[in-house]
Amino acid sequence: MADANAIRAAARLLEAGKLVAIPTETVYGLAADASNPDAVAAIFRAKGRPSNHPVIVHVARDADLSRWASELPDEARQLIDAFWPGPLTLILPRAASVPAAVTGGQDSVGLRCPSHPVAQALLQEFRGGQGGLAAPSANRFGRVSPTTAQHVVDEFGAPGDGPLAAVLDGGQSDVGIESTIVDLTRLATRGPVLLRPGRISAIQLERVLGRALAAPDTAAPRVSGSLDAHYAPLTPVALIASGELAGVLERLQAKGRRVALMHYSAPTGVPASVQMSTDPDGYAHALYANLRAMDAAGADLIVVEQPPQEAHWQGVNDRLRRAAFDSAGVLDRLL
Ligand code: TXA
Ligand code: MG
Repeated sequence: MADANAIRAAARLLEAGKLVAIPTETVYGLAADASNPDAVAAIFRAKGRPSNHPVIVHVARDADLSRWASELPDEARQLIDAFWPGPLTLILPRAASVPAAVTGGQDSVGLRCPSHPVAQALLQEFRGGQGGLAAPSANRFGRVSPTTAQHVVDEFGAPGDGPLAAVLDGGQSDVGIESTIVDLTRLATRGPVLLRPGRISAIQLERVLGRALAAPDTAAPRVSGSLDAHYAPLTPVALIASGELAGVLERLQAKGRRVALMHYSAPTGVPASVQMSTDPDGYAHALYANLRAMDAAGADLIVVEQPPQEAHWQGVNDRLRRAAFDSAGVLDRLL
C-alpha cells in the first residue's frame, strides 16, 4: 500500500507533467495534471484513446470547483452533499480555463471527488489541494478496467518500462466498476440525465434530486464508455439467461469448446468456473478481476450467466452487456 512518501513523490511527478496510475474506490485511473495539455495528451497516447473523448477531472474534497465548472446548479450541490467523496461523476458546464484536451473539445467538464484514501491524500498533496487530476480508467482503449495495481502493470508495463512514471498501490478497488455519471448541463430542457450507471443507483440519485433521471439521447455529451465493445476481454463473451444456461453449456461441450464460466446461481460441472456474488455490489467488486482471469484461462469463450434484470443490477448489467456486445455472433460461430 502506498505510504505518505510514495504519495508525495507521485504528486511531484504529476506536477512535473508525468503520468501516474492511481487507485480509486471504483477502478484504477491513469492520472495527469488536468491543467497541463501536454500531460493530458500523454494519457491519450498511452491508452490509444481517440483525442475527442473527454476525461474526468478528479478533485480534492473542498476543492474550489469554480476553477473547473462555470456554474454549479442546485442539483449539483445536492448530489455533491449526498455522495462526495464517492463514486459519482457530474458533467457540468466547463470553466473557460479548462484545456480542450480534457473536455474533448466539448463545452462540458466531468468532475469527480474520489473517496479512496490514497487518491484523497494525493489530491490534497498535489498543487496544495487545488489542482485537478485528469484520469480515465488505467486500461488500453476498449479493454477491461483495472481494479488492482498489478492489472495496471499488466496493461502498461512497470514504471520506467512504459509510459507510467509511477503506480500507486491502493489495494483492490472496493466498488469495482466505474463511477455513475450524471449530466447536469441540460437541466432546463432534459433535466438530469444518467449517462453511465454505477454503484450509486438511479433510485438513490432520484431520491436526493426529488425528480426522475432521463435516459441519454443522441444530443448527450459523448461518453466513450457508452460505445458498444467497451470493457471487453480479448476472449469472446456470451451472456446467457439462467434458464438457458445448462442447455447452452451442454451444446458447447458437445462441440469440444473450451468454456470459462461466470455464474451466480446453481453450481455447474464446468472446470473453469467462478461463482459470483448474488449481491450486486459484491458482483461488481469482483467482476473485472474475474473477467481478466477468465481471459487468461485460454478458453474459446467466456460464458456469463445473466444476473437479474433489476434496478440494483443496472451498473453490472450495463458492463456485462458491453463485454458481451457480440453475444449472438459468438454463439453462432461456436455452436
Ligand atoms: O470511476 C471512474 O469514473 C474512473 C476512475 C478512474 O475515476 N474513471 C473512468 O474514466 O471511468 P473513463 O475515462 O474511462 O470514463 C469516463 C467517462 C468517459 O466515458 C468519458 O467520455 C466521460 O466519462 N466524460 C468525461 N468528461 C465528460 C464530459 N465533459 N462530457 C461527457 N462525458 C464525459
Ligand atoms: Mg474507461
